Amino acid sequence: MTKDKLHWYMDAIFYEVHVRAYCDSNGDGKGDIPGLISKLDYIKELGVDCIWILPIYPSPLKDDGYDIADYYSVHPDYGTIDDFKNLILEAHKRGLKVIADLVLNHTSDQHPWFQKSRSDPNSKYRDYYVWSETDEKYENTRIIFLDTEVSNWTYDEVAGMYFWHRFYSTQPDLNYDNPEVVKEMMNVMDFWLDMGIDGFRADAVPYLIEREGTNCENLPETHEILKQFRKHLDEKYEDKILLAEANQWPVDVRPYFGEGDEFHMGFHFPVMPRIYMAMRKGDTSPIHWIMSQTPEIPENTQWCIFLRNHDELTLEMVTEEERQWMWSEYAPDPRMRLNLGIRRRLAPLLDNDQQKILLANALLYALPGAPIIYYGDEIGMGDNIWLFDRNGVRTPMQWNDSINAGFSKANPEDLYAPVIDSPEYTYKKVNVAVERQDPESLLNKMRHLVSVRKSHPIFAVGDFEFLAQDQTSFLAILRTLEEQNVICIHNLTGEEKSIELDLSNFSGRRLINLLEESEPDTITEKKQSYILKPHQFLWMRVTD
Ligand code: GLC
Repeated sequence: MTKDKLHWYMDAIFYEVHVRAYCDSNGDGKGDIPGLISKLDYIKELGVDCIWILPIYPSPLKDDGYDIADYYSVHPDYGTIDDFKNLILEAHKRGLKVIADLVLNHTSDQHPWFQKSRSDPNSKYRDYYVWSETDEKYENTRIIFLDTEVSNWTYDEVAGMYFWHRFYSTQPDLNYDNPEVVKEMMNVMDFWLDMGIDGFRADAVPYLIEREGTNCENLPETHEILKQFRKHLDEKYEDKILLAEANQWPVDVRPYFGEGDEFHMGFHFPVMPRIYMAMRKGDTSPIHWIMSQTPEIPENTQWCIFLRNHDELTLEMVTEEERQWMWSEYAPDPRMRLNLGIRRRLAPLLDNDQQKILLANALLYALPGAPIIYYGDEIGMGDNIWLFDRNGVRTPMQWNDSINAGFSKANPEDLYAPVIDSPEYTYKKVNVAVERQDPESLLNKMRHLVSVRKSHPIFAVGDFEFLAQDQTSFLAILRTLEEQNVICIHNLTGEEKSIELDLSNFSGRRLINLLEESEPDTITEKKQSYILKPHQFLWMRVTD
Protein backbone atom coordinates (compact mmCIF):
# COMPACT_ATOMS: atom_id res chain seq x y z
CA MET A 1 0.00 0.00 0.00
CA THR A 2 1.20 3.48 -0.74
CA LYS A 3 -0.52 6.15 1.21
CA ASP A 4 -1.10 9.09 -1.11
CA LYS A 5 -0.61 11.64 1.51
CA LEU A 6 0.87 11.18 4.94
CA HIS A 7 -1.64 12.92 7.18
CA TRP A 8 -0.21 13.88 10.57
CA TYR A 9 -2.15 11.25 12.47
CA MET A 10 -0.89 8.38 10.37
CA ASP A 11 2.66 8.30 11.68
CA ALA A 12 1.96 10.01 14.98
CA ILE A 13 2.77 8.59 18.37
CA PHE A 14 0.15 9.37 20.99
CA TYR A 15 0.53 9.85 24.73
CA GLU A 16 -2.51 9.30 26.92
CA VAL A 17 -2.69 11.54 29.97
CA HIS A 18 -5.10 11.66 32.87
CA VAL A 19 -4.98 15.32 33.97
CA ARG A 20 -6.01 14.36 37.54
CA ALA A 21 -3.01 12.06 37.77
CA TYR A 22 -0.29 14.05 36.06
CA CYS A 23 0.77 17.12 38.01
CA ASP A 24 -0.89 19.21 40.70
CA SER A 25 0.03 22.90 40.37
CA ASN A 26 -2.06 24.30 43.25
CA GLY A 27 -1.47 21.81 46.03
CA ASP A 28 -5.04 20.53 46.33
CA GLY A 29 -3.96 16.94 45.80
CA LYS A 30 -5.42 16.65 42.29
CA GLY A 31 -3.63 17.12 39.02
CA ASP A 32 -4.76 20.06 36.91
CA ILE A 33 -4.32 21.68 33.52
CA PRO A 34 -1.62 24.18 34.61
CA GLY A 35 0.24 21.17 36.05
CA LEU A 36 0.02 19.39 32.72
CA ILE A 37 1.25 22.53 30.94
CA SER A 38 4.30 22.58 33.22
CA LYS A 39 5.16 19.06 32.00
CA LEU A 40 4.76 19.62 28.27
CA ASP A 41 8.52 19.82 27.80
CA TYR A 42 8.86 16.37 29.30
CA ILE A 43 6.19 15.02 26.94
CA LYS A 44 7.89 16.66 23.99
CA GLU A 45 11.22 15.11 25.01
CA LEU A 46 9.62 11.70 24.98
CA GLY A 47 9.24 12.19 21.24
CA VAL A 48 5.48 11.85 20.95
CA ASP A 49 3.30 13.94 18.64
CA CYS A 50 -0.13 14.12 20.18
CA ILE A 51 -1.55 14.09 23.69
CA TRP A 52 -4.90 12.48 24.36
CA ILE A 53 -6.44 13.82 27.57
CA LEU A 54 -9.15 12.00 29.48
CA PRO A 55 -12.39 13.89 30.20
CA ILE A 56 -11.85 17.22 31.95
CA TYR A 57 -15.47 18.38 32.03
CA PRO A 58 -17.67 19.08 35.08
CA SER A 59 -18.81 15.73 36.37
CA PRO A 60 -19.88 13.99 39.57
CA LEU A 61 -16.98 11.64 38.75
CA LYS A 62 -18.93 8.42 39.14
CA ASP A 63 -16.98 7.17 36.13
CA ASP A 64 -13.90 9.37 36.50
CA GLY A 65 -15.31 12.06 34.23
CA TYR A 66 -16.89 9.85 31.55
CA ASP A 67 -20.14 10.94 33.19
CA ILE A 68 -20.37 14.51 31.94
CA ALA A 69 -22.65 17.06 33.58
CA ASP A 70 -21.68 19.99 31.34
CA TYR A 71 -20.00 19.69 27.95
CA TYR A 72 -19.03 23.36 27.78
CA SER A 73 -16.82 23.83 30.76
CA VAL A 74 -13.86 22.49 32.70
CA HIS A 75 -14.15 20.65 36.02
CA PRO A 76 -13.03 23.11 38.74
CA ASP A 77 -10.51 20.52 40.00
CA TYR A 78 -8.72 20.83 36.68
CA GLY A 79 -8.85 24.57 36.05
CA THR A 80 -10.74 26.87 33.74
CA ILE A 81 -11.52 27.28 30.08
CA ASP A 82 -8.67 29.80 29.93
CA ASP A 83 -6.31 27.18 31.29
CA PHE A 84 -7.51 24.85 28.58
CA LYS A 85 -6.92 27.46 25.88
CA ASN A 86 -3.48 27.97 27.32
CA LEU A 87 -2.81 24.22 27.18
CA ILE A 88 -3.61 24.16 23.47
CA LEU A 89 -1.45 27.20 22.86
CA GLU A 90 1.53 25.87 24.80
CA ALA A 91 1.22 22.41 23.25
CA HIS A 92 1.05 23.83 19.74
CA LYS A 93 4.06 26.04 20.46
CA ARG A 94 6.02 22.85 21.07
CA GLY A 95 4.67 21.10 18.00
CA LEU A 96 2.40 18.87 20.07
CA LYS A 97 -1.22 18.24 19.16
CA VAL A 98 -4.00 17.66 21.65
CA ILE A 99 -7.11 15.53 21.37
CA ALA A 100 -9.75 15.07 24.06
CA ASP A 101 -12.54 12.67 24.83
CA LEU A 102 -15.89 13.23 23.17
CA VAL A 103 -18.42 11.25 25.14
CA LEU A 104 -21.32 10.86 22.73
CA ASN A 105 -23.21 7.85 23.97
CA HIS A 106 -24.29 9.05 27.40
CA THR A 107 -24.25 11.91 29.88
CA SER A 108 -24.19 11.98 33.66
CA ASP A 109 -27.58 11.66 35.34
CA GLN A 110 -26.67 15.07 36.82
CA HIS A 111 -26.68 16.70 33.39
CA PRO A 112 -29.49 19.32 33.17
CA TRP A 113 -30.79 17.56 30.04
CA PHE A 114 -31.42 14.42 32.06
CA GLN A 115 -32.84 16.30 35.01
CA LYS A 116 -35.39 17.98 32.73
CA SER A 117 -35.95 14.79 30.81
CA ARG A 118 -36.93 12.80 33.88
CA SER A 119 -39.03 15.49 35.53
CA ASP A 120 -41.03 16.99 32.67
CA PRO A 121 -42.76 14.73 30.14
CA ASN A 122 -43.58 17.74 28.00
CA SER A 123 -40.09 19.17 27.86
CA LYS A 124 -38.15 18.69 24.64
CA TYR A 125 -35.52 16.93 26.75
CA ARG A 126 -37.79 13.95 27.46
CA ASP A 127 -36.83 12.62 24.04
CA TYR A 128 -33.09 13.22 24.57
CA TYR A 129 -32.85 9.89 26.40
CA VAL A 130 -34.10 6.37 25.84
CA TRP A 131 -37.17 5.79 28.05
CA SER A 132 -39.42 2.78 28.27
CA GLU A 133 -42.45 1.59 30.23
CA THR A 134 -40.85 -1.84 30.56
CA ASP A 135 -37.36 -3.16 31.16
CA GLU A 136 -37.84 -5.95 28.68
CA LYS A 137 -36.78 -4.23 25.48
CA TYR A 138 -33.49 -4.95 23.69
CA GLU A 139 -32.90 -8.11 25.67
CA ASN A 140 -30.13 -9.32 23.35
CA THR A 141 -27.84 -6.56 24.55
CA ARG A 142 -24.90 -7.54 26.75
CA ILE A 143 -24.03 -5.74 29.98
CA ILE A 144 -20.58 -4.13 29.88
CA PHE A 145 -19.93 -3.26 33.55
CA LEU A 146 -20.66 -6.76 34.77
CA ASP A 147 -19.21 -6.10 38.20
CA THR A 148 -21.82 -3.53 39.15
CA GLU A 149 -24.75 -3.58 36.73
CA VAL A 150 -27.51 -6.19 36.51
CA SER A 151 -29.47 -4.64 33.66
CA ASN A 152 -29.13 -2.01 30.95
CA TRP A 153 -32.41 -0.52 32.25
CA THR A 154 -32.88 1.38 35.49
CA TYR A 155 -36.22 2.49 36.89
CA ASP A 156 -36.43 6.22 37.55
CA GLU A 157 -38.87 7.18 40.29
CA VAL A 158 -39.23 10.73 39.01
CA ALA A 159 -40.18 9.78 35.46
CA GLY A 160 -41.98 6.60 36.51
CA MET A 161 -40.22 4.82 33.63
CA TYR A 162 -37.06 2.92 32.85
CA PHE A 163 -34.08 4.56 31.15
CA TRP A 164 -31.47 2.81 29.03
CA HIS A 165 -27.76 2.82 29.91
CA ARG A 166 -24.89 0.74 28.54
CA PHE A 167 -22.52 1.69 31.36
CA TYR A 168 -23.23 2.69 34.98
CA SER A 169 -26.83 3.47 35.89
CA THR A 170 -25.58 7.00 36.58
CA GLN A 171 -24.81 7.33 32.83
CA PRO A 172 -28.11 7.44 30.90
CA ASP A 173 -27.71 6.86 27.15
CA LEU A 174 -28.64 9.69 24.82
CA ASN A 175 -31.28 9.00 22.18
CA TYR A 176 -29.62 9.27 18.76
CA ASP A 177 -32.91 8.71 16.98
CA ASN A 178 -33.56 12.30 17.94
CA PRO A 179 -31.86 14.68 15.45
CA GLU A 180 -31.77 17.36 18.16
CA VAL A 181 -29.28 15.23 20.09
CA VAL A 182 -27.05 14.97 17.05
CA LYS A 183 -27.18 18.75 16.68
CA GLU A 184 -26.34 19.26 20.36
CA MET A 185 -23.25 17.11 20.00
CA MET A 186 -22.14 18.92 16.87
CA ASN A 187 -22.29 22.13 18.87
CA VAL A 188 -20.14 20.51 21.54
CA MET A 189 -17.59 19.51 18.91
CA ASP A 190 -17.50 23.03 17.49
CA PHE A 191 -17.01 24.57 20.91
CA TRP A 192 -13.75 22.68 21.51
CA LEU A 193 -12.57 22.70 17.90
CA ASP A 194 -12.97 26.47 17.77
CA MET A 195 -10.64 26.61 20.76
CA GLY A 196 -8.00 24.88 18.68
CA ILE A 197 -8.20 21.27 19.80
CA ASP A 198 -6.92 18.83 17.16
CA GLY A 199 -9.66 16.27 17.39
CA PHE A 200 -11.45 13.77 19.56
CA ARG A 201 -11.24 10.27 20.85
CA ALA A 202 -14.90 9.40 20.50
CA ASP A 203 -15.94 7.25 23.42
CA ALA A 204 -18.06 4.09 23.18
CA VAL A 205 -19.30 4.69 19.62
CA PRO A 206 -20.84 1.29 18.82
CA TYR A 207 -23.78 1.86 21.13
CA LEU A 208 -25.48 5.01 19.84
CA ILE A 209 -28.64 3.38 18.44
CA GLU A 210 -30.87 0.61 19.80
CA ARG A 211 -33.04 -1.72 17.70
CA GLU A 212 -35.21 -4.63 18.83
CA GLY A 213 -33.92 -8.06 17.82
CA THR A 214 -30.29 -6.90 17.55
CA ASN A 215 -27.46 -6.72 20.08
CA CYS A 216 -27.68 -2.91 19.71
CA GLU A 217 -24.02 -2.64 18.67
CA ASN A 218 -22.52 -1.44 15.37
CA LEU A 219 -25.93 -0.86 13.78
CA PRO A 220 -26.09 0.74 10.30
CA GLU A 221 -28.07 3.62 11.81
CA THR A 222 -25.20 4.27 14.23
CA HIS A 223 -22.78 4.48 11.30
CA GLU A 224 -25.07 6.96 9.56
CA ILE A 225 -24.99 9.24 12.59
CA LEU A 226 -21.23 8.97 12.90
CA LYS A 227 -20.84 9.89 9.25
CA GLN A 228 -22.85 13.03 9.92
CA PHE A 229 -20.34 14.02 12.61
CA ARG A 230 -17.48 13.46 10.19
CA LYS A 231 -19.16 15.44 7.46
CA HIS A 232 -19.71 18.28 9.87
CA LEU A 233 -16.05 18.19 10.89
CA ASP A 234 -14.82 18.17 7.30
CA GLU A 235 -17.08 21.02 6.28
CA LYS A 236 -15.87 23.32 9.00
CA TYR A 237 -12.33 22.30 9.91
CA GLU A 238 -9.08 21.07 8.45
CA ASP A 239 -6.63 18.52 9.78
CA LYS A 240 -8.73 17.56 12.80
CA ILE A 241 -9.34 13.93 13.65
CA LEU A 242 -11.92 11.56 15.03
CA LEU A 243 -10.62 8.42 16.70
CA ALA A 244 -13.13 5.63 17.37
CA GLU A 245 -13.27 3.67 20.55
CA ALA A 246 -15.04 0.57 19.31
CA ASN A 247 -13.99 -2.44 21.34
CA GLN A 248 -14.92 -4.94 18.62
CA TRP A 249 -13.42 -7.49 16.25
CA PRO A 250 -11.46 -5.93 13.37
CA VAL A 251 -14.13 -6.92 10.87
CA ASP A 252 -16.69 -4.96 12.91
CA VAL A 253 -14.33 -2.01 13.39
CA ARG A 254 -13.71 -1.81 9.64
CA PRO A 255 -17.07 -0.05 8.95
CA TYR A 256 -16.09 2.73 11.38
CA PHE A 257 -13.57 3.87 8.78
CA GLY A 258 -16.38 3.96 6.20
CA GLU A 259 -14.98 4.73 2.78
CA GLY A 260 -12.62 7.13 4.45
CA ASP A 261 -15.64 9.22 5.41
CA GLU A 262 -16.34 8.13 8.98
CA PHE A 263 -13.43 7.92 11.46
CA HIS A 264 -9.84 8.87 10.68
CA MET A 265 -8.63 6.36 13.22
CA GLY A 266 -9.88 3.39 15.18
CA PHE A 267 -8.38 1.48 18.07
CA HIS A 268 -7.30 -2.04 17.27
CA PHE A 269 -8.44 -3.71 20.49
CA PRO A 270 -7.90 -7.42 19.82
CA VAL A 271 -4.24 -7.23 18.83
CA MET A 272 -3.45 -6.00 22.35
CA PRO A 273 -4.15 -9.12 24.46
CA ARG A 274 -2.49 -11.21 21.76
CA ILE A 275 0.82 -9.45 22.24
CA TYR A 276 0.70 -10.54 25.88
CA MET A 277 -0.40 -14.05 24.89
CA ALA A 278 2.38 -14.40 22.34
CA MET A 279 5.00 -13.23 24.79
CA ARG A 280 3.90 -15.50 27.62
CA LYS A 281 3.66 -18.53 25.33
CA GLY A 282 6.81 -17.69 23.37
CA ASP A 283 4.68 -18.33 20.31
CA THR A 284 3.80 -15.96 17.47
CA SER A 285 0.53 -17.64 16.46
CA PRO A 286 -1.87 -15.27 18.29
CA ILE A 287 -0.32 -12.26 16.51
CA HIS A 288 -0.18 -14.01 13.13
CA TRP A 289 -3.82 -14.95 13.54
CA ILE A 290 -5.21 -11.59 14.55
CA MET A 291 -3.31 -9.79 11.81
CA SER A 292 -4.75 -12.28 9.30
CA GLN A 293 -8.19 -11.19 10.55
CA THR A 294 -7.38 -7.51 10.15
CA PRO A 295 -8.85 -6.03 6.97
CA GLU A 296 -7.32 -3.34 4.81
CA ILE A 297 -8.54 0.13 5.71
CA PRO A 298 -9.03 3.19 3.48
CA GLU A 299 -5.94 5.14 2.47
CA ASN A 300 -6.68 8.18 4.59
CA THR A 301 -7.25 6.19 7.79
CA GLN A 302 -5.11 4.58 10.45
CA TRP A 303 -5.27 2.03 13.26
CA CYS A 304 -4.41 3.10 16.77
CA ILE A 305 -2.52 0.43 18.67
CA PHE A 306 -1.73 0.21 22.37
CA LEU A 307 -0.53 -2.07 25.15
CA ARG A 308 -2.39 -0.45 28.03
CA ASN A 309 -4.75 2.40 28.72
CA HIS A 310 -6.75 3.87 31.62
CA ASP A 311 -9.22 0.98 31.63
CA GLU A 312 -8.73 -2.65 32.56
CA LEU A 313 -6.73 -4.66 30.02
CA THR A 314 -9.84 -5.81 28.24
CA LEU A 315 -10.36 -9.47 27.38
CA GLU A 316 -13.60 -8.95 25.52
CA MET A 317 -12.02 -9.79 22.17
CA VAL A 318 -10.67 -13.25 23.03
CA THR A 319 -12.34 -16.66 23.38
CA GLU A 320 -13.56 -17.89 26.76
CA GLU A 321 -10.66 -20.33 26.89
CA GLU A 322 -8.12 -17.62 26.07
CA ARG A 323 -9.64 -15.36 28.71
CA GLN A 324 -9.28 -18.03 31.38
CA TRP A 325 -5.70 -18.58 30.28
CA MET A 326 -4.90 -14.84 30.32
CA TRP A 327 -6.44 -14.52 33.78
CA SER A 328 -4.48 -17.44 35.15
CA GLU A 329 -1.21 -16.19 33.65
CA TYR A 330 -1.54 -12.44 34.13
CA ALA A 331 -4.07 -12.07 36.96
CA PRO A 332 -3.41 -14.90 39.40
CA ASP A 333 -4.84 -12.86 42.28
CA PRO A 334 -8.63 -12.52 41.80
CA ARG A 335 -8.34 -8.88 42.85
CA MET A 336 -6.40 -8.25 39.64
CA ARG A 337 -9.49 -9.13 37.60
CA LEU A 338 -12.18 -6.62 36.77
CA ASN A 339 -15.21 -7.05 34.50
CA LEU A 340 -13.80 -9.04 31.57
CA GLY A 341 -10.28 -7.79 32.08
CA ILE A 342 -7.20 -7.20 34.19
CA ARG A 343 -6.57 -4.04 36.22
CA ARG A 344 -2.79 -3.95 36.06
CA ARG A 345 -0.19 -1.77 34.42
CA LEU A 346 2.36 -2.73 31.80
CA ALA A 347 5.42 -3.15 34.03
CA PRO A 348 3.77 -5.44 36.62
CA LEU A 349 2.17 -7.48 33.82
CA LEU A 350 5.62 -8.08 32.38
CA ASP A 351 7.31 -8.94 35.67
CA ASN A 352 9.00 -5.53 35.81
CA ASP A 353 11.49 -6.92 33.32
CA GLN A 354 12.91 -4.08 31.22
CA GLN A 355 13.73 -6.29 28.26
CA LYS A 356 10.19 -7.69 28.16
CA ILE A 357 8.67 -4.21 28.42
CA LEU A 358 10.83 -3.02 25.55
CA LEU A 359 10.01 -6.11 23.52
CA ALA A 360 6.26 -5.55 24.00
CA ASN A 361 6.68 -1.98 22.79
CA ALA A 362 8.87 -3.08 19.90
CA LEU A 363 6.27 -5.64 18.80
CA LEU A 364 3.64 -2.92 18.89
CA TYR A 365 5.75 -0.42 16.97
CA ALA A 366 6.68 -2.97 14.34
CA LEU A 367 3.01 -3.42 13.45
CA PRO A 368 1.11 -0.99 11.25
CA GLY A 369 -0.74 1.76 13.11
CA ALA A 370 -0.17 4.71 15.39
CA PRO A 371 0.94 3.62 18.87
CA ILE A 372 -0.28 5.11 22.12
CA ILE A 373 1.80 5.25 25.28
CA TYR A 374 -0.17 5.34 28.53
CA TYR A 375 1.28 7.90 30.95
CA GLY A 376 3.68 6.33 33.44
CA ASP A 377 4.27 3.19 31.40
CA GLU A 378 7.31 4.86 29.84
CA ILE A 379 8.98 4.84 33.26
CA GLY A 380 7.63 1.43 34.30
CA MET A 381 5.14 2.60 36.92
CA GLY A 382 3.44 0.01 39.11
CA ASP A 383 -0.23 -0.22 40.03
CA ASN A 384 -2.40 -0.62 43.10
CA ILE A 385 -4.97 -3.35 42.63
CA TRP A 386 -6.60 -2.51 45.98
CA LEU A 387 -8.02 0.79 44.78
CA PHE A 388 -11.63 0.90 43.61
CA ASP A 389 -12.61 0.03 40.02
CA ARG A 390 -9.85 1.04 37.57
CA ASN A 391 -8.27 3.64 39.87
CA GLY A 392 -5.27 1.43 40.54
CA VAL A 393 -3.86 2.20 37.09
CA ARG A 394 -4.58 5.93 37.46
CA THR A 395 -2.31 6.80 40.38
CA PRO A 396 -0.13 9.97 40.50
CA MET A 397 2.66 10.26 37.96
CA GLN A 398 6.05 9.72 39.58
CA TRP A 399 8.30 12.69 38.87
CA ASN A 400 10.97 12.34 41.55
CA ASP A 401 11.74 10.80 44.92
CA SER A 402 10.46 13.71 47.02
CA ILE A 403 7.18 13.70 48.93
CA ASN A 404 4.17 12.60 46.80
CA ALA A 405 6.61 11.64 44.05
CA GLY A 406 6.86 15.32 43.10
CA PHE A 407 3.27 15.15 41.86
CA SER A 408 1.79 17.51 44.48
CA LYS A 409 2.65 19.64 47.47
CA ALA A 410 -0.50 18.58 49.35
CA ASN A 411 -0.44 16.47 52.49
CA PRO A 412 -0.13 12.87 51.36
CA GLU A 413 -3.53 12.05 52.88
CA ASP A 414 -5.12 14.73 50.70
CA LEU A 415 -4.01 13.22 47.39
CA TYR A 416 -6.86 11.97 45.17
CA ALA A 417 -5.07 8.59 45.27
CA PRO A 418 -1.97 7.35 47.06
CA VAL A 419 1.30 7.29 45.13
CA ILE A 420 2.77 3.87 44.47
CA ASP A 421 5.15 3.01 47.28
CA SER A 422 5.43 -0.77 47.14
CA PRO A 423 8.95 -2.15 47.56
CA GLU A 424 9.33 -2.97 43.88
CA TYR A 425 7.67 0.05 42.29
CA THR A 426 8.16 2.77 44.88
CA TYR A 427 8.34 6.29 43.50
CA LYS A 428 11.70 6.55 45.26
CA LYS A 429 13.15 4.28 42.57
CA VAL A 430 10.69 4.53 39.70
CA ASN A 431 10.55 8.17 38.71
CA VAL A 432 11.34 10.55 35.88
CA ALA A 433 14.25 12.34 37.62
CA VAL A 434 16.17 9.13 38.36
CA GLU A 435 15.51 7.64 34.95
CA ARG A 436 16.49 10.78 33.08
CA GLN A 437 20.01 10.48 34.52
CA ASP A 438 20.48 6.83 33.69
CA PRO A 439 21.26 5.98 30.06
CA GLU A 440 20.15 2.40 30.70
CA SER A 441 16.75 3.36 32.15
CA LEU A 442 13.45 2.31 30.64
CA LEU A 443 12.64 5.96 30.00
CA ASN A 444 15.76 6.52 27.92
CA LYS A 445 15.34 3.27 26.04
CA MET A 446 11.71 4.09 25.32
CA ARG A 447 12.77 7.49 23.99
CA HIS A 448 15.22 5.79 21.70
CA LEU A 449 12.63 3.33 20.42
CA VAL A 450 10.14 6.13 19.88
CA SER A 451 12.69 8.17 17.95
CA VAL A 452 13.62 5.24 15.70
CA ARG A 453 9.96 4.53 15.02
CA LYS A 454 9.27 8.19 14.34
CA SER A 455 12.14 8.69 11.97
CA HIS A 456 10.90 5.85 9.75
CA PRO A 457 7.30 6.41 8.59
CA ILE A 458 7.54 2.97 6.98
CA PHE A 459 6.59 1.56 10.40
CA ALA A 460 3.37 3.49 10.44
CA VAL A 461 2.19 3.17 6.88
CA GLY A 462 4.29 0.58 5.09
CA ASP A 463 2.93 -2.76 3.92
CA PHE A 464 3.68 -5.65 6.18
CA GLU A 465 4.33 -9.32 5.75
CA PHE A 466 5.31 -12.00 8.26
CA LEU A 467 8.51 -13.87 7.45
CA ALA A 468 9.62 -17.32 8.61
CA GLN A 469 6.18 -18.19 9.93
CA ASP A 470 7.35 -21.72 10.75
CA GLN A 471 9.80 -20.41 13.33
CA THR A 472 7.13 -19.64 15.87
CA SER A 473 9.30 -18.34 18.66
CA PHE A 474 10.31 -15.37 16.50
CA LEU A 475 8.02 -12.71 15.18
CA ALA A 476 9.70 -11.65 11.96
CA ILE A 477 8.15 -8.86 9.96
CA LEU A 478 9.04 -7.31 6.65
CA ARG A 479 7.80 -3.75 6.22
CA THR A 480 7.79 -2.18 2.78
CA LEU A 481 7.14 1.36 1.62
CA GLU A 482 7.83 2.04 -2.04
CA GLU A 483 11.53 1.15 -2.48
CA GLN A 484 12.28 0.93 1.22
CA ASN A 485 12.34 -2.19 3.36
CA VAL A 486 12.71 -2.79 7.06
CA ILE A 487 13.05 -6.20 8.67
CA CYS A 488 12.12 -6.64 12.32
CA ILE A 489 12.81 -9.82 14.26
CA HIS A 490 11.72 -10.41 17.83
CA ASN A 491 12.62 -13.32 20.07
CA LEU A 492 9.45 -13.95 22.05
CA THR A 493 11.03 -16.44 24.40
CA GLY A 494 13.07 -16.23 27.56
CA GLU A 495 15.85 -18.25 25.93
CA GLU A 496 18.66 -17.43 23.55
CA LYS A 497 17.50 -18.61 20.12
CA SER A 498 18.71 -18.66 16.58
CA ILE A 499 16.59 -17.85 13.58
CA GLU A 500 17.16 -18.40 9.89
CA LEU A 501 15.64 -15.99 7.44
CA ASP A 502 15.47 -16.39 3.70
CA LEU A 503 16.27 -12.91 2.45
CA SER A 504 17.54 -13.99 -0.97
CA ASN A 505 15.19 -11.46 -2.58
CA PHE A 506 17.56 -8.83 -1.24
CA SER A 507 20.72 -10.72 -2.10
CA GLY A 508 23.79 -8.47 -2.48
CA ARG A 509 22.24 -5.68 -0.46
CA ARG A 510 23.12 -4.76 3.10
CA LEU A 511 21.29 -4.54 6.39
CA ILE A 512 21.78 -1.63 8.75
CA ASN A 513 20.85 -2.02 12.40
CA LEU A 514 18.36 0.71 13.27
CA LEU A 515 18.65 0.37 17.02
CA GLU A 516 22.36 0.47 17.62
CA GLU A 517 25.57 1.15 15.76
CA SER A 518 27.08 -1.95 14.24
CA GLU A 519 28.76 -3.12 11.05
CA PRO A 520 26.23 -3.58 8.21
CA ASP A 521 25.53 -7.17 7.22
CA THR A 522 25.67 -8.22 3.58
CA ILE A 523 22.74 -10.35 2.45
CA THR A 524 23.68 -13.54 0.64
CA GLU A 525 21.80 -16.12 -1.42
CA LYS A 526 21.89 -18.37 1.60
CA LYS A 527 19.66 -18.03 4.63
CA GLN A 528 20.73 -15.33 7.04
CA SER A 529 21.02 -16.54 10.56
CA TYR A 530 20.78 -14.55 13.73
CA ILE A 531 21.20 -15.41 17.36
CA LEU A 532 19.02 -13.36 19.66
CA LYS A 533 19.23 -13.19 23.43
CA PRO A 534 16.10 -13.74 25.57
CA HIS A 535 13.39 -11.28 24.47
CA GLN A 536 15.87 -9.46 22.25
CA PHE A 537 14.76 -7.78 19.04
CA LEU A 538 16.51 -6.48 15.99
CA TRP A 539 15.23 -3.91 13.50
CA MET A 540 17.20 -3.56 10.28
CA ARG A 541 16.92 -1.41 7.19
CA VAL A 542 17.78 -2.83 3.79
CA THR A 543 20.24 -0.63 1.92
CA ASP A 544 22.60 -0.81 -1.06
C1 GLC B 1 -14.97 4.02 27.64
C2 GLC B 1 -13.90 4.58 28.56
C3 GLC B 1 -14.16 4.10 29.96
C4 GLC B 1 -15.54 4.54 30.39
C5 GLC B 1 -16.60 4.08 29.38
C6 GLC B 1 -17.93 4.74 29.62
O1 GLC B 1 -14.89 2.65 27.51
O2 GLC B 1 -12.63 4.20 28.11
O3 GLC B 1 -13.19 4.57 30.85
O4 GLC B 1 -15.83 4.02 31.65
O5 GLC B 1 -16.25 4.40 28.07
O6 GLC B 1 -17.88 6.09 29.25
